[in-house]
Amino acid sequence: MGIAFDPSNKAFHLQAGDTSYIMQIFRSGYVAHLYWGKKVQAANMPRKLTFLDRAFSPNPDPSDRTFSLDTLPQEYPAYGNTDFRAPAYQVQLENGSTISDLRYRAHRIYKGKPRLKGLPATYVEHEAEAETLELILKDELIGLQVTLLYTVYEKWNVIARSVRFDNLGSERIKLLRALSMNIDFRDADYEWIHLPGAWARERYIERKALQTGMQSIESRRGASSHQQNPFIALLRKDTNEDAGEVYGFSLVYSGNFLAQIEVDQFHTTRVSLGINPFDFTWLLAPGESFQTPEVVMVYSDQGLNGMSQTFHELYRTRLARGVFRDRERPILINNWEATYFRFNEEKILQLAKAAAELGIELFVLDDGWFGKRDNDKSSLGDWFVDRRKLPHGLKGLAQHINSMGMQFGLWVEPEMISVDSELYRKHPDWCLHVPNRPRSEGRNQLVLDYSRQDVCDYIIETISNVLKSAPISYVKWDMNRHMTEVGSAALPPERQRETAHRYMLGLYRVMDEITSRFPHILFESCSGGGGRFDPGILYYMPQTWTSDNTDAVSRLKIQYGTSLVYPAIAMGAHVSTVPNHQVRRVTPLETRGHVAMSGNFGYELDVTKLSDKEREQVKEQIAFYKQIRRLVQFGTFYRILSPFEGNEAAWMFVSEDRSEAFVAYFRMLSEANAPLSFFRLKGLDPNKNYEMIGSGEVYGGDELMYIGLNAPTRRGDFLSAVWLLKEWR
Ligand code: GLA
Repeated sequence: MGIAFDPSNKAFHLQAGDTSYIMQIFRSGYVAHLYWGKKVQAANMPRKLTFLDRAFSPNPDPSDRTFSLDTLPQEYPAYGNTDFRAPAYQVQLENGSTISDLRYRAHRIYKGKPRLKGLPATYVEHEAEAETLELILKDELIGLQVTLLYTVYEKWNVIARSVRFDNLGSERIKLLRALSMNIDFRDADYEWIHLPGAWARERYIERKALQTGMQSIESRRGASSHQQNPFIALLRKDTNEDAGEVYGFSLVYSGNFLAQIEVDQFHTTRVSLGINPFDFTWLLAPGESFQTPEVVMVYSDQGLNGMSQTFHELYRTRLARGVFRDRERPILINNWEATYFRFNEEKILQLAKAAAELGIELFVLDDGWFGKRDNDKSSLGDWFVDRRKLPHGLKGLAQHINSMGMQFGLWVEPEMISVDSELYRKHPDWCLHVPNRPRSEGRNQLVLDYSRQDVCDYIIETISNVLKSAPISYVKWDMNRHMTEVGSAALPPERQRETAHRYMLGLYRVMDEITSRFPHILFESCSGGGGRFDPGILYYMPQTWTSDNTDAVSRLKIQYGTSLVYPAIAMGAHVSTVPNHQVRRVTPLETRGHVAMSGNFGYELDVTKLSDKEREQVKEQIAFYKQIRRLVQFGTFYRILSPFEGNEAAWMFVSEDRSEAFVAYFRMLSEANAPLSFFRLKGLDPNKNYEMIGSGEVYGGDELMYIGLNAPTRRGDFLSAVWLLKEWR
C-alpha cells in the first residue's frame, strides 16, 4: 500500500488494496488522470498521453496546436479554458467572470486520514490503515487554493476523495459548483448502474449501456431521497455478480447530489459526483474555506459482489461508529403497523407483554406519543408526552416495559414542524420558507430551518431532554417530507442558495451532538422508510429503516438493491401482518420471516392477535434469528439469484472463517409443471465439509459451490426456504 511520487516523471502512484491509481502533473501543472484499476507494480506508464491536432478543441498554449484540455484526462477540470466537457467546479468573481485556472503547486503525503470538518466521512482507527495525499492546486490570479484529498486504505480497494477550497485572495469568490471528484476514463465500453426508486419501492437496480453525451442522476429534494441513491457504478459489459470489473462511487452525503457520466466525442468517459450544483452557490469570503463531502470509490475485478462486499465492510467498520458498530442488534417490535396513532398505555403494554413472551428484545413506540398527535395533522415540534395516552409518562411506560425484560425505544421526527403546533405558533420563521410566498406542506408539515444555529441548538436541547426523561435504549429518527420554498430567514440574500447545504451541516451537527451525548442509545434513521438510506446518515446512525413497504415479496427487490452498497446490519427489516398494508398481498409467515431475518430483524404487527400456531412459529423464528444473528449482521454477503431477473431470489451470508453459512431462497409465483431449479452457493471453503443443520446431511463446500442445491419443489406462491450450514469435522 501507499502513495509514491516519482519526481522524474512527476507521477503519483496510489496503491489501495489490490489497486493502482496513477496521476501525472502534466506540462505547466495540469493534473492528468492516467489509470485506475488492478494493481501495477510501478508507474512507468507505457500508455503515454497522446495528443493530436483536433478540430474545434482550442489550445491554451498557442504554440502547440495539439494540446487542448478538451482531450486531456483530468482529475479536477475547469470550464472555460478549452475543456468543453462538464467541469468539476466553477467559481464566479466579483467582476462577474467565471473563468479560473488551477495548477499544481505542492503536495503532502502522510499516514492516516484527516477528518472532514462538519461532515461525515470514512475514518481510520490506526494511522497505519491508510495513507493520504493532498494535492494543492492554485489559481494565482484570484488567490484560490484547491486541495484535492485522496486517502487509500491498505486493506481494501478503496480510495476516498474530497476537495477543499480556500480563498487566500482579497475578494469574495462565489462557488457555483464544487463537486467532490472527477475521473476521466480512457474509453466508454462500460455499462452503468444506479438505484432509482420511489417511496415504498426504494433502490431498484437499473443497468444500462453508456451512450454518447450526458447521463446523470440527481436529487433536488433536500435529501438523498427514495427517488435516487447517491451511488453509481461503471462496469464492463461482461461483468456479472462474480466476475469482471466494476468501479463504484458512493457519496457520503444526505442532501441534494449530482452523479454524472459524460461520454465525449472521443469516447472517453468523465465521471463526477458531489453536491448538486442546481440551486447551490456558496460565498467564500477572503480567509474562508469550503470542504466538499467525500466520495468513496471502490474498484472490484470480482464483479458486483466483490464491490458490494468492500462497501459493506468499509461502511460497517469504518463509517458506522459507536458502541453498536460491533454489537449484535436487538430484535425489536414496532407498534406502527399494529396501532398507527390509535393507542394508549394499556394497548402498548399488552403488545409489549405479548412481544416479551415471544423473545423480542426491544419495544419501539412509534409516532403519536407527544403533543396532541392523534393523526398526522399536528404537534411536530411539541416534544412533550401526551398524558391522555400515556398517563405515567414515558418514564412510567419505559420502566414497565423494562420490567418485562425488554428495552424501550422511541420514535422522533426532530427536523419537522406542524403548523398546528405550539412551536410554530411561537416561531413561525423557524421553518424553511421564502418571503411573501405560501409555505407548501407535505404530510401536513413544514421543514425546520436547520441552516439556523438557534433552531439546531433548540432541537439538541429539546430532544436531549426527552432522551434523558426515561430509560430509552433506542431512537427511530424519522424525516417525512422533502424541501420546498428553500430559503432561510437568517441568511442574507446572497447566501440564500446556501440554505440546503447549510441545512445538512446543521443536521450533521445535531445528529453528532445528540448521538455523542447518548452513546448507549442505538439510533435508527428513517425517512418515510428508506428515503435517506445513505452513507452520510450511517456515520451517525448505524441502521436505517429500509422501506415503509413491509411486504415480503416487495422487500426482496428492495433489500437486494440496497445490498449493492449497504450491509445487512444496516437494513431494518420487519415481519408485518397479512394482507400486507402497502400492497394487500398475503404471504406465508415463514416467507415473511425469512425475508426479514436477511436483515436487521424485527416485527411490526399486533402480536396479541396471533393464533397459537403463529405464536409458536414466531417464537421459533426469533430463536432461529438469535442463532444466525452474528452471521447475518457481521458475515460476508453474497447475492445469488436476482429478483429483478426472474421469479426467484437467493442470497447467503458466510462467517469470516467460513465455518458457517446462512442461505435463503425465495420463489415468487408458483408455476404448473415447472422446470426443476437449482442454484450454486458461494464463498464457502471448498475443502471443508458442511452439515445442514436440521437435516443432518453433510456436503463438501466444493459440492455446494460447484454442483449446487436443489430449490424446493413445493407448490404455492411466495415460497421460501433457508439452510444453516456449519462446518462438519
Ligand atoms: C414514517 C415512517 C414509518 C412511521 C411513520 C410514523 O412514514 O417511515 O415507519 O414511523 O412515519 O408517522
